[in-house]
Amino acid sequence: MKANKNLSLLKLGGGLLTDKNQPYSLRKDIIRSSVRQIIEADEKIILIHGGGSFGHPLAKKYKVSGGLDKSIPNQVLGVAETHHSMIKFNNHIINNFLESNYPVLSIQPSSVFIRDSQVTYTNSLDVIKTALDLNIIPILYGDIILDRQGSFSIISGDQIILELCNNFTGYHISKVIFAMESDGLYIVDEIESENCKLVTECYADELDTLNLADLGQKIDVTGGIKSKLDIIKSVCKTKIPVQLINGLIEGNIYKSLKNQNINCTNILINE
Ligand code: IPE
Repeated sequence: MKANKNLSLLKLGGGLLTDKNQPYSLRKDIIRSSVRQIIEADEKIILIHGGGSFGHPLAKKYKVSGGLDKSIPNQVLGVAETHHSMIKFNNHIINNFLESNYPVLSIQPSSVFIRDSQVTYTNSLDVIKTALDLNIIPILYGDIILDRQGSFSIISGDQIILELCNNFTGYHISKVIFAMESDGLYIVDEIESENCKLVTECYADELDTLNLADLGQKIDVTGGIKSKLDIIKSVCKTKIPVQLINGLIEGNIYKSLKNQNINCTNILINE
């Protein structure tokens, strides 16, 4: 295995894999199809998935993102429950791979990352590197994260991606893919303002100037589209291009992993 082999980071959004309006509801067909496409593509990837209806409702109930608050009954228990709920969700994804005899390894983000007054620190990523060397797909997920100051919060799948972009060595991360429920970013059409148009290509430094259409994105505990854009900008600063794709369209995940053309948003790096 060459040390500089290309690697993609793929995030499957929680809203794609679950029904966010229905606690603990899996979109089993989408999960099955996404897993099948990843197996068929058979590329070097780290897979990250979001919390969806397994993470957000509990995190919201116990206000986990806000940190320790003694006025919230059973909050610390709620942190443990949120983590456990994510493990159950992750288990389902892991099972889908193993049922197809494809090797994957679940990596607990709450053991890899820690915060200190809200600054995130990354422990050794050797396990992930070694798994990749063995042709095992490491799978991480949005999780709770502890804070050395005696508190906790949430680390989203998107934040995990950024930490990996900043700290992972041994492989060359050639691309970050976000599989979501839309084709990508939309801007308001300048001529017919009630219509919106997919941004198929844009440079990272143009993101702030886009007149983005508000497609009624639900705000979740990890901040919705606004914080996704901030993460994308930070990822691009590490010189890694980002692709936003529609995971509901059969074949898109496979095509993205194989660098084939799709109708999506490509965020390019300024040289
Ligand atoms: C959230 O992760 C994790 C928890 C709430 C525990 P993400 O923010 O990555 O999840 P999605 O993709 O928005 O569902």
